[in-house]
Amino acid sequence: MPNIVIVGTQWGDEGKGKMVDLFSEYANVIVRFQGGNNAGHTLVVKGEQVILHLIPSGILHPNKLCIIGNGVVVDPGVLIEEIEGLKEKGHFKDSENLKVSEEAHIIMPYHKTLDILRDKARKKGKIGTTGRGIGPAYEDKASRVGIRMGDLKDPKRLKERVNLALAEKNFIIKEYLGADPLNPDEMFEYLMALSDKVVGYITNTSLLLNKKIAEGASVMFEGAQGALLDVDHGTFPFVTSSHTVAGAAATGSGVGPTVIDGVYGITKAYTTRVGSGPFPTELSDEIGKRLQKKGAEFGATTGRRRRCGWFDAVAVGHSTRLNGLSGLIITKLDVLSGLDTLKICIGYKIDGEVRDDFPSDIPSLENAEPVYIELPGWKEEIDKARNFEELPKTARDYIGKIEEILGVPAAIISVGPDREDTIIIKNPFEE
Ligand code: GDP
Ligand code: IMO
Ligand code: MG
Repeated sequence: MPNIVIVGTQWGDEGKGKMVDLFSEYANVIVRFQGGNNAGHTLVVKGEQVILHLIPSGILHPNKLCIIGNGVVVDPGVLIEEIEGLKEKGHFKDSENLKVSEEAHIIMPYHKTLDILRDKARKKGKIGTTGRGIGPAYEDKASRVGIRMGDLKDPKRLKERVNLALAEKNFIIKEYLGADPLNPDEMFEYLMALSDKVVGYITNTSLLLNKKIAEGASVMFEGAQGALLDVDHGTFPFVTSSHTVAGAAATGSGVGPTVIDGVYGITKAYTTRVGSGPFPTELSDEIGKRLQKKGAEFGATTGRRRRCGWFDAVAVGHSTRLNGLSGLIITKLDVLSGLDTLKICIGYKIDGEVRDDFPSDIPSLENAEPVYIELPGWKEEIDKARNFEELPKTARDYIGKIEEILGVPAAIISVGPDREDTIIIKNPFEE
């Protein structure tokens, strides 16, 4: 059985949660490999909505192993809350179904403080982070003062790590951000109080995953965010702090890239973005408002209104290359129903010149004037369609045009939030 990576190709919220939940039926192991609880992945099963921030979106299926990999940054409080919430709803059957990497870095309370205070202190160019401490936690990993989940198993080491981290953090908090310093003993006690509830889940997940693969298990790697938020390849500095592209699935879970058999890119049929940063096809007119309303475009983590715009094939072309996509999963096609004309951006006019590559600098993106092609829309609702042929011809043509521009076939079309509202052209898990 194949090992498949599922990633977002835009600025996040493409519908990854829905797809990972749907295809968990075919996988044995589901792994998150980057990001943290900045993610908000929405699953809808027979009308019941579940939003997951940290736990992989395979958890609703019994007998699947869900792994939070080494590349994820973990807020232990959020992990406990999420487990408790799932248990209450009867969705968390057995603690053997969830494992957390001992190498995953912990999001500490001061990471959240720094995240929020720092964005607030920016006069211009606020990133609009989720305020969950993601960036500061990854910084501490890179600067080697981070605390890892495995440290929770050894109080002596944990204390040393907390003291080391706070010596520097308190200077920044006090002198640079003008806030009250933190007490290292209190911070240690905070972690100790949480550790009892989480140590049972902590293990060497790379070893476990490699064993499972050797035994013939099929793995789904669940990306968070989207390629345009990748720390290198996205719209830097308006990005998250991890690698969100498919290549990170290997490093973020401790497997070699050769185990990956396919990469599927989730692509909304239009574009959205939550938080600041350039967005060339953004619509501030009635159509933008309509997409926002019909698509219920509010952030699943922060509740912020998502900015909306036309499908940007220049941006998704960039993602297609970065991820080496095997197939596209096009979501929210139903949201486009009722529009007379649809537009797809195929180029950017920058300083009088048209180009079809995605610039890496913010001024070019801010000055980019989208070059559109227009296609006829469709009037009828399409949420009941279950076969590609049941879609109106203009909807099929819209999909066909996206496939043609990107040079990647559409494997799945999503026409509603529920697991069942899906047209499967090719199941990624069936070879
Ligand atoms: P993720 O972060 O990529 O998992 O996506 P989110 O869950 O943050 O946002 C996607 C939103 O769109 C959620 O509210 C989903 O329930 C919803 N959704 C997913 N697919 C479809 C679809 O095909 N049509 C509609 N109307 N909603 C969808
Ligand atoms: P999912 O997995 C959409 C955005 C934030 C902000 C920027 C940096 O649900 O698709 P961070 O807190 O990561 O430092 O914020 O990235 N962002 C997301 N936008 N979906 C997400 O996750 C996001 N995770 C972070 O809004 O602009
Ligand atoms: Mg989301």
